[in-house]
Amino acid sequence: MKIRDILLSEYGKASSIPSPVNRMMTDFAIGFRDGYDINLGVGYVNENTIPRQQIQNACEAVLSNPEKYRASLNYGGAQGSPNLIESIRKFHIDNRIGGITKNTFNTKDIVIGANGATSLLESITHLLPAGIVFTADPMYYIYCNDLERKGFTVIAIPEDNHGLETDLLRAKLKALGSGKAAIQFFYVVTVNNPSCTILSNRQKRELVEIVTELSYEIGRKIPLFFDNAYRDLVHDSTVEPLESALCYDQLGIVYEIGTLSKILAPGLRIGYLIGPKGTFLDSIIQRTSDIGFSAPLINQEIASYLLDNGIEAQIEKVNNGYREKAKQVKTWIVELLGDNVEGYRGGSAGFYYYLTLANIATDSNSDFFKFLTRTTGQKDIDGPSHNPHPKVIYIPGEHCVHPSGEMIDIGKRQFRISYGFEELPQIHAALKHMKDAIDYCSEKV
Ligand SMILES: Cc1ncc(COP(=O)(O)O)c(C=O)c1O
Repeated sequence: MKIRDILLSEYGKASSIPSPVNRMMTDFAIGFRDGYDINLGVGYVNENTIPRQQIQNACEAVLSNPEKYRASLNYGGAQGSPNLIESIRKFHIDNRIGGITKNTFNTKDIVIGANGATSLLESITHLLPAGIVFTADPMYYIYCNDLERKGFTVIAIPEDNHGLETDLLRAKLKALGSGKAAIQFFYVVTVNNPSCTILSNRQKRELVEIVTELSYEIGRKIPLFFDNAYRDLVHDSTVEPLESALCYDQLGIVYEIGTLSKILAPGLRIGYLIGPKGTFLDSIIQRTSDIGFSAPLINQEIASYLLDNGIEAQIEKVNNGYREKAKQVKTWIVELLGDNVEGYRGGSAGFYYYLTLANIATDSNSDFFKFLTRTTGQKDIDGPSHNPHPKVIYIPGEHCVHPSGEMIDIGKRQFRISYGFEELPQIHAALKHMKDAIDYCSEKV
């Protein structure tokens, strides 16, 4: 008898095919030659920003103080370590992050994700029914890809220099008419990935107002999730201090997602959610229990210790590093890519630049991409097949803009480069290869 293969759910089927970005990054990682090929594609933090010694000290301090850090190598509770929750609360209040005060926490609680901010974002997709999700364009492609595999419809609203354009959002909502009933939530990254555009306080406040009005209109609270992954990485002192959207929220619809990945270490896998106490937060806690009981307790206690001991100095150190890199990389972009760059975002926060080229396609079938990945088929460009010339990878804009959004055409001329992971000499070399790639494209037309 013929036997059929394992029956997959719709999500299973969609997940059995790796996302285009995953495929691209995997292809690149195979045969990656350290110190030769250059990876401007990954969202990895700079290794030098990770406080190795402090983490080692913190681990020792935790293990040698079992009265405070109880059973730290055992299972933890699903809401998260009480020590860490208190440290996060204190970190926000002491630093008055975004205007948060002691009173903010009268009605709000903190929960720790099972595995970074990503696990909290993923949990949302299981706890809210499928429907429409609004976000900014370009979008955080990793999460939006997950949402679409789970049957959500993502509507991406183009951003301007200050984040998601609220006028466009209002127009889109109006055009949806009775279709608005299908809206499930809003997801907005406050320092956007891929563009590093900083959402202005004005636009943030307006977003809260729009979603509050919408909630009243529909007769149901529509949650508005702000992803603060890069919020603590604003390294440009001319940027207005960022306010927390929690302070604008009258209705109890605003949630903020934070992570220690970018200021301490992604390997700790500590992400947290702050939001109104209630059934939604309760369901997140149960979900954390379902998928792994809790984040590793030892990591939570280490993170708690690090937040209690010298976090301000650590954040300053991280930002000093990225500020210098941002400035230098910007100079090289101007010097090497010059007029071929029609526009750019980034450089004030996080560690990405998002560039728009004037006339040159950047998608994975483009000559620009093929030149940089040494897949043109021309020996003089690619080098010998057993040992090609240095390869450079970036994230093409085609993967960052929504495929049925308004930015689809311009996205084909855009790309994200990271100045996080690689060191300056490698980034300089990569930009020189990009200049050569542009010359190659210009010669071909
Ligand atoms: C916008 C955004 N959210 C969340 C994350 C992931 O955070 P975590 O490491 O805590 O899972 C990232 C990582 O790059 C990100 O860019």
